[in-house]
Order: sequence, then C-alpha cells, then structure tokens
Amino acid sequence: MRMYDLILKKKNGEELSTEEINFIIENYTNGTIPDYQMSALLMAIYFQKMNDRETADLTMAMVNSGDVIDLRKIEGIKVDKHSTGGVGDTTTLILTPMVAALGVPVAKMSGRGLGHTGGTVDKLETFENFSVAMSEEKFIDNVNRLKIAVSGQTAQLVPADKKIYALRDVTATVDNVSLIASSIMSKKIASGADAIVLDVKVGDGAFMKTVDDARILGREMVSIGKNVNRNTIAVLSDMDQPLGLAIGNALEVEEAIETLKGNGPKDLEELCLTLGSEMIILAEKAKDRDEARKMLKEVIENGKALEKLKEFVASQGGDTSVIDDTSKLPKAKYVVEVLSEEDGVVEKIHSDKMGIVAMELGAGRATKESEIDLAVGIVLNKKRGEKVSKGDVLAYIHSNDENNIEKAKKGILDNYVISENYTDNIPLVHDIIR
Ligand code: URA
Ligand code: CA
Repeated sequence: MRMYDLILKKKNGEELSTEEINFIIENYTNGTIPDYQMSALLMAIYFQKMNDRETADLTMAMVNSGDVIDLRKIEGIKVDKHSTGGVGDTTTLILTPMVAALGVPVAKMSGRGLGHTGGTVDKLETFENFSVAMSEEKFIDNVNRLKIAVSGQTAQLVPADKKIYALRDVTATVDNVSLIASSIMSKKIASGADAIVLDVKVGDGAFMKTVDDARILGREMVSIGKNVNRNTIAVLSDMDQPLGLAIGNALEVEEAIETLKGNGPKDLEELCLTLGSEMIILAEKAKDRDEARKMLKEVIENGKALEKLKEFVASQGGDTSVIDDTSKLPKAKYVVEVLSEEDGVVEKIHSDKMGIVAMELGAGRATKESEIDLAVGIVLNKKRGEKVSKGDVLAYIHSNDENNIEKAKKGILDNYVISENYTDNIPLVHDIIR
C-alpha cells in the first residue's frame, strides 16, 4: 500500500477501506508516513468527507494506536461525560460529585486547558496540594470506594490523536465532523468508558456555530458509540454566551461550590441537571428523566453532593477547607467593575472572545508552556436578555496586574452586544440525540 495512492483515492471522493485506514494511522503514528502526506490526506478528507463506516474505522484505528485503559475492575457501569469545549464551563466539577453521590462510578481522565477554554485539571489544582498523578491501582481503588477519581491523561492514550490534532491545528483542518468526532470518541473509548454523555456546544464560542452542524456532529458521535457498543448520548447546548457567570479557575471553583450548595447560576444548574440525568439513566440508577432529576436535586438539597466533593478532593491530597469557606480561595489583587456605556438589552455575549480576554488576564494558556494564574478572570453580572442602563455593572475583572485592566475592560465592552430591543429565545438545550 502506498500513501500516495490513498491520498489520490480520497481526493477523487472514493471510500477508504478498513485496511487502508488502519495502514494510514499505524504508519503515521510510527513516523513512516511524513507530515506533508498526512496534511494532504486531511485536506482531502476535509473536502471529500468520510462516511459513517470510515469514521468508525478511523476512530478504532486511533484507539488502537496506544494504550486502552481497562476499567473492568471497577464495579458498575462507567459513564463518562465530555464537553466539546466551552468557555466558563464548570459542569464537570459540579456533575461528577453529584452523580458519584448517587453511586455512579466516575473514573475520569481530564486534561489541562489550552487557549481560551479551561481544563478541569487546572481548576481542580485550585485546591492546594490536589494531585491528578496516581497509580492505576489507586485510581481503581478510589473509584470503587468513593465512586470518583480524576487522573491526568497518560502519554500513551491515543498517540495518533496527539499527532493528528497538532497537524490539523496548523493546516486549517480542525473543523471537519469526521475528524472532530473520531478525535473525541477515540479518547473516550480508550479511557475505558462503558457509556458516554456528550455535551456538544453550539454557538459562536464553539466549533459548531449552528444547531444543524452540531446535530450532524452529535449524530456522528452517537453513531460511532453505537458501532463499538458504547451507549452514547449527545446533548446540544447553548454556547452563544458563556455558561454561568464565572470565567477563570478559582472563580469557577467558587461557582461550582455555590452550585453544589444550591446557590448557583440557573443556566449552569439546569445544564448539570440535564447532563446528570442522562448519566444516571445510562448507569441504570434511574428509570426516567423525572426520577433522575429528582434524585439529583435531592443530593444538592441534602448536602451529599457537596460532601462527595470534599471526600474526593481529600482523597487526592487537596485542601478541603476552602469548600466550607470560599474566601480562602486564591483572590486577585484588583477587582474592577466594567460599566455599560449604553441603555438597552443584552443581545449577545461573544463567549470565545470573552474566553480570550480571561486568558489574557492570565486565566488560560496561550501556549502549552504558559503558567496560569488561578485567581484571575471575569465574573459576568449581566447575561443575555437582561435589561441594562448606562452605568450598570456588566461584569467584574479580577486581575493581578494593573497594566492589563484597561485592555480587558475594552475587550469586555466589545464582547457585549447591547440592542434597543431584544427578547431572548435561545434555549439552553437545543436537542438531545439518542
Ligand atoms: N476536541 C477534541 O478533542 N478533538 C477535536 O477534534 C475537537 C475538539
Ligand atoms: Ca462559569
């Protein structure tokens, strides 16, 4: 088999066979196929697309490029949840203790954030001394005893995706449904989940800008899951404004703690209830969504979800005293109000750009090597559909550097679209694909 012929075949719009796809992934991962040929193939895939069978084959070839985690020693149905990348998305931090408190085993591999989207590992490291480094034995033992553990990704999980994703990033081939779906699903399958709940973000802060495109991506991932016997559900949720109010690590941890205490922003709580319901149904702990929601609300009201967060943080070495007293979380030196310059109604909050403002304040990494500042970020005070008058506080900047405040202020004002008249009718959840 020659890579040249396979590039030509895809360029001409033909289907690649299972053997051909295996050949490509194996030989690209081991370095036999050079980046320039893989780049050409990715561009051919971008224009000619792949069908469901090719996408499922690509996914499994990627899974088999590295280690596959065996979670069979963990009792029960392991349900993983994955978001396609949002801004200020604190759901993992809230959802995992909620479902664990209901007996659903959460065995999670999480990553650090890159660019303007946050990573769960970074947020968890806000708890002083918290560590995601642990042996496989301890990981499995923790999940069996406490129903929850979060480990950092190992180097050997889907190495093909690491190489291909880096190449897509520099060849303008990220936004292809088959490539996104195989990239996400290969990592979920390799990390051992029995069932998967996907939160597919829709809007200008997401890969998928329209509900139709998000539906295509959701269907593709659900179909891959079905093909490999992993029950998969995709929830299409709004990312046309940031989720909740806080953007930034310690700020989001505080928001998560407040939500677990029942005092969180409504949109964040609602999305957690929706995703959580799907998780506990897949785990066979509830028979329908009504029962599932009731169970989830109960563990917030009776404090069991918050208690589970404490148990989990303590089990991985973290300081839990901040959970009782959030004033002990890292705080920024300056908290500055951003005031509206006009009267009207908030029509839009550009979430990707808001994420970039937070990153520039130090909350995110511009490159893999950047250090993040846990304390800084943005807290929104007005969301879509809310009335504002000139002089009202739109948002608060949390910064440790006096010199970056003016730029952040300008950025935030630019990201708020305020119109004379607007009625918000964008739903939080657009659709659920089963
Ligand atoms: N997230 C991933 O892990 N891969 C993609 O291709 C897109 C989002
Ligand atoms: Ca948030």
